[in-house]
Amino acid sequence: MAQKPLHIVILAAGKGSRMRSNLPKVLHQVAGKSLLGHVIDSSLELKPSQIHVVIGHGKDQVIEAFESHASVDRFNWVEQTEQLGTGHAVSQALPAIPENANVLMLTADVPLIKATTLRAMVEAMNSSPLALLTAIVDDPFGLGRITRDDTNAVTGIVEQKDASVEQQRIQEINSGIICAHRDQLGDWLEQIDNNNAQKEFYLTDVVSLAYQAGNPIAALHPQENSEVNGINSRVQLAEVECLYRYAQAVRLMESGVTVLDPHRLDIRGDVEIAQDTIIDVNVVIQGPTKIGSGVYIAPNCVITESVLADNVTVHPNTVIEHSELGSGVNVGPFARLRPGTKLAQDVKIGNFVETKNAQLDEGAKVNHLSYVGDATVGSNTNIGAGVITCNYDGANKHKTTIGKDVFVGSDSQLVAPVEIKDGATIGAGSTITATVEANKLAISRGKQRQIDGWKRPTKAR
Ligand code: UD1
Ligand code: CA
Repeated sequence: MAQKPLHIVILAAGKGSRMRSNLPKVLHQVAGKSLLGHVIDSSLELKPSQIHVVIGHGKDQVIEAFESHASVDRFNWVEQTEQLGTGHAVSQALPAIPENANVLMLTADVPLIKATTLRAMVEAMNSSPLALLTAIVDDPFGLGRITRDDTNAVTGIVEQKDASVEQQRIQEINSGIICAHRDQLGDWLEQIDNNNAQKEFYLTDVVSLAYQAGNPIAALHPQENSEVNGINSRVQLAEVECLYRYAQAVRLMESGVTVLDPHRLDIRGDVEIAQDTIIDVNVVIQGPTKIGSGVYIAPNCVITESVLADNVTVHPNTVIEHSELGSGVNVGPFARLRPGTKLAQDVKIGNFVETKNAQLDEGAKVNHLSYVGDATVGSNTNIGAGVITCNYDGANKHKTTIGKDVFVGSDSQLVAPVEIKDGATIGAGSTITATVEANKLAISRGKQRQIDGWKRPTKAR
């Protein structure tokens, strides 16, 4: 039998009143990515024929937020002008879905759902026309409850506001994720009404219709309940952020990374770390980032979209952004590596040093209080304390080229564009404005004088 096409419908039109926010709920973020972004990215792993996103509240903002998403050409934005309920929302997308498709319906406010779970939902379509993702939870308040008959078959879903006292005791809840055959789903949706406590067309009402027509209904569970945590308020947003953060730390620990406190490590996005790396407390790492083995990251560091080779040491309070660090590199404490920093093997960047668009060759050292921007620095060159590459003339940026085995004395300014050739020495306190030839000493500070008989001024009475 030919594989049925898969169409995914993501419900994202609701206001999210309980967030108390001007930002559409689905654009609030978990681990630096919007709720809708999480659901879309998990959906894409199933390689669906199309993703239909039902939008309404803040629709322009939502579309704009995804303008540059890599797969945006596979999205079909469907507008639901009035939010009449989840069943009504799905109905808006149906005309664009072929009769023979499987339809996987997701809600944008359940962001941690895993592709493996979604795949199992689609596979269930081989034996039932309707599958629900349910979970048994300690506190089911606010969620739709799964009702079952005395053979334990699913008979329907009853929403919190419509549930009897007895039904409110049911601990099996609807995750909001439902999969169905397109043709039958269309028939069921035509039959639902809004005779309920919220006067909405509930998607969940298709379940009792399917049961009454004698269809087998599959009920699957996620691997972990955290996958189906919904977000309706900022408190739930923070809960999901914590769950995500902890899950990432666990993933790293299981792959051989030492995490001193999994509750004080934030991994956001795609982050790969090799084994026997140690991460101290209060570290934020944003992907895509790749970190080798034997690396130590001290407390309070933020590393964004960077590559760190093996045996790098990052001392406390260091910020690294769009940079590449070779093996054995040592940075910080209090260093700031800005975009375009490339440090070859064994480079040392010390405290209060800022680099930007700077390439430093093997063994180069900038140990204290310097700014190295738009510069190349040769191997084993030593840049003394407080050296500044003056790269900006107020209008344009210029380059500083420093050779290998150069010694730049402390508190010097290198006024770009300027070149210092191999083996040159710059006397401390110099302002360098012209090429320094190889192996020469350049010194530009005023000659020291002594004034005899000089008296310090005294305070006026
Ligand atoms: C829904 C389910 C409930 C389930 C819960 C799980 C229904 C009727 N209820 O309740 O059984 O336990 O999710 O999280 O389906 N939306 C639209 N258009 C609308 C209404 C909603 O696009 O007209 C979207 C919302 O933006 C949201 C999703 O659908 O992303 C769910 O809506 P929400 O109001 O949050 O439903 P719940 O009350 O959480
Ligand atoms: Ca919800």
